Amino acid sequence: MSLGRTLRQWWHEGLGREGCLRTLRRLVAALWEFARESMPEQRRRRYGDVEYDWDHRVDTTSATVGWRDRLLGKFLSPYQATEPALFREMLESLKIDFSEFTFVDLGSGKGRVLLMAADFPFRRIVGVELLPGLHRVAQGNISKYKSDSQRCFAVEAVCGDAREFAFPPEPTVLYLFNPLPEAGLVEVVARLEQSLGENPRPVYVLYHNPLLESVFSSSTLLRKIGGTQQYSIYASGGMRLERLP
Ligand SMILES: C[S@@+](CC[C@H](N)C(=O)[O-])C[C@H]1O[C@@H](n2cnc3c(N)ncnc32)[C@H](O)[C@@H]1O
Repeated sequence: MSLGRTLRQWWHEGLGREGCLRTLRRLVAALWEFARESMPEQRRRRYGDVEYDWDHRVDTTSATVGWRDRLLGKFLSPYQATEPALFREMLESLKIDFSEFTFVDLGSGKGRVLLMAADFPFRRIVGVELLPGLHRVAQGNISKYKSDSQRCFAVEAVCGDAREFAFPPEPTVLYLFNPLPEAGLVEVVARLEQSLGENPRPVYVLYHNPLLESVFSSSTLLRKIGGTQQYSIYASGGMRLERLP
């Protein structure tokens, strides 16, 4: 994943969408924010998410992400790990037989969500991460993770682009914590709809920090069945929640 190529692509997409001046402004804002976040005080603040790592002897904190991946994150989607209690709340609201479902995290970063999902008896778990540096840390975490509460042992991390992910043909819980800008999310939802058209099945989407809800509201195969301000839950036709959060 080259910084120069990512920046060029980001720049050209920006030019096409909003013109030179606005793209330049966003570039300066991104670089300024990056510089600000690199100050020691901000770095200490990022250690606020480290409790999970202490408890499980893994490395999923955003505090130790190197400058290159943090800078790439400014132009793709910054790495941030999901908060454990919130993740559990999202999964427990589904009331499904987890053993029938494959769990997919698109934009899996250092893999915290993959480890937390492994405490549920999913059929298997797959994470897809674009940045090789984060992907390697996720692989290390998967092999290190040991917990009495682990129920799924088929956990796999893949390095690749979420926009090119081929959805598995089985019932799926798809997890998204803002991995993509709007154009990318549109592609992912289109792929998921195509897969559902070819192979109708139960699919739930847990959308954490749902900034781009409009992408889902235009879907004909997925409908919103629940959520809070922090997340939205979508399901393929016929699925429902017994208890809305
Ligand atoms: C907000 S983090 C979420 C990390 C993890 N899912 C969690 O909740 O703990 C978003 C992740 O998406 C990754 N990402 C950005 N663009 C991507 C793409 N096109 N394909 C796969 N991953 C991507 C980023 O590198 C980042 O690690």
